[in-house]
Amino acid sequence: MRLFTTIAALRCYLNSEKSAASNLQIGLVPTMGALHSGHLSLIQRARQENAIVVVSIFVNPLQFGPKEDFQDYPRNLEQDRLLCEQAGVDVIFVPSELEMFGKSGIDAGNSEIPVLKLIDPSFLTQVVPPVAMTSVLCGKSRPGHFQGVAAIVTKLLSLVQPTRAYFGQKDAQQVAIIRQLVADFNLPVQIVACPIAREASGLAMSSRNQYLTQEQKQQASVLYRALQQGLKTFSSGDRTAKEILAVVKSEVAQESAIQLEYAELVDPNSLIPLEVVKTAGLLAVAAKIGSTRLIDNMMIRNRLPIVAIDGPAGSGKSTVTRKVAQVLGLSYLDTGAMYRAVTWLAMTTNTPISDEFAIAELVNSSYLEYNLDPASGLTLKINGEDVTEAIRSLEVTARVSEIAAVPAVREFLVEQQRRCGKIGGIVAEGRDIGTNVFPDAELKIFLTASVKERSRRRLLELKDADRANISLEQLERDIALRDEKDSTREVSPLRKAADAVEIETDGLTIAEVIDRIVGLYKQRIVNSY
Ligand code: PAF
Repeated sequence: MRLFTTIAALRCYLNSEKSAASNLQIGLVPTMGALHSGHLSLIQRARQENAIVVVSIFVNPLQFGPKEDFQDYPRNLEQDRLLCEQAGVDVIFVPSELEMFGKSGIDAGNSEIPVLKLIDPSFLTQVVPPVAMTSVLCGKSRPGHFQGVAAIVTKLLSLVQPTRAYFGQKDAQQVAIIRQLVADFNLPVQIVACPIAREASGLAMSSRNQYLTQEQKQQASVLYRALQQGLKTFSSGDRTAKEILAVVKSEVAQESAIQLEYAELVDPNSLIPLEVVKTAGLLAVAAKIGSTRLIDNMMIRNRLPIVAIDGPAGSGKSTVTRKVAQVLGLSYLDTGAMYRAVTWLAMTTNTPISDEFAIAELVNSSYLEYNLDPASGLTLKINGEDVTEAIRSLEVTARVSEIAAVPAVREFLVEQQRRCGKIGGIVAEGRDIGTNVFPDAELKIFLTASVKERSRRRLLELKDADRANISLEQLERDIALRDEKDSTREVSPLRKAADAVEIETDGLTIAEVIDRIVGLYKQRIVNSY
């Protein structure tokens, strides 16, 4: 692991890595140090998804108010360095204030000795996120905080130019603002929000928990219980902010050591307060215990469950997914049909599939409509034309895998698939459905079978279609090669999500696999709804 304190050295390292590998995937985990298990879960996720992992450690003075804990904020570089090393981080970037802001930002050019408290934002370029997002929730009591976060995050994204940047969902307002910033400036980075890590008591992990005594930690766990009560009220059918927030506030009031600053229910993206949760809401609280300010939140969703089925080629995903949807009365999201629709469009508009840029232009100026309701019949339209039948032609079949390999197509279709998942009630399959498209799916299945078994099944299929002009050994070699390719490819590699249930289907009939999935669904989902 390398540790850099200068921008020049960091750039030098990244340039050299980039020139050694094409399309290098870089994961950035921006932190202010004092790393805890929450940070480590971000690092772990970044490690799984990228070739290079950069962790930045910088206590950003711009995001602290004059009366806040900038001077006292926990700093423990030695321990952070050790934790990063153990977690397989490639680089920690630990710049000084002088390095980050330059001399003009530090002392406005008036002093020879840079002194922290002289950092003067009026000498720095500012990044101003939408006021509607910074003037609510924590923004009310922390004026300037999110502007300070936006400035430093923009700078880190520009320095590292990562493929993905990882943030904790505990700072949900920060995540929403950063997503907006990235969208508004079209920054080429994927923002990944990772679930809140909690102590056994339910207390959300935070570097500021170091300020708390054991007793205060126990008392502070009331915030989590209050959010849970809010969720329970919502799940029992009361979807109004008035009722949900009343329950949260009354639970917090049980703990006299806690002074609630706010309990709010807002739209998770725009942060606009909600009166009723139609699809999703962010239930967020902030409170003080002693002089320590804590925040916590929970996402509440008014949508039907999603079942995501991933797995290697030939594991029987599409047959199983279609049937599971039927048995559960859910819609089958046929992601393959979407790729077929784009293939059809490329072919009918004579756009060469090999011309990646033309394909990117084509898909991003097209409009896909997907009717998922099995009752009225599944239909797929592209640019207003019903292509449900046309996409099943042999010509489309022959070229669909070429289209699926174009990154711009995958990006476009992942957005479309997420749109279909907004109200839930679907069973979907694909190579990265549970890891990338629907990371919040209620049930994730990783369907697999040995190479031998998958080759045997494929041979039977070919025999049925009178096309068995290949040996079992050759099929085994082909399938093993495809597995290797699928799991090591740069765009959406095949991976088992950490919370997926693996079903090894060797020796199981299709009916048995379906029974298992339906059983899991009933156990996990029906019982909790
Ligand atoms: O979440 C944090 O630790 C900070 O706000 C961040 C994103 C590192 C910016 O300083």
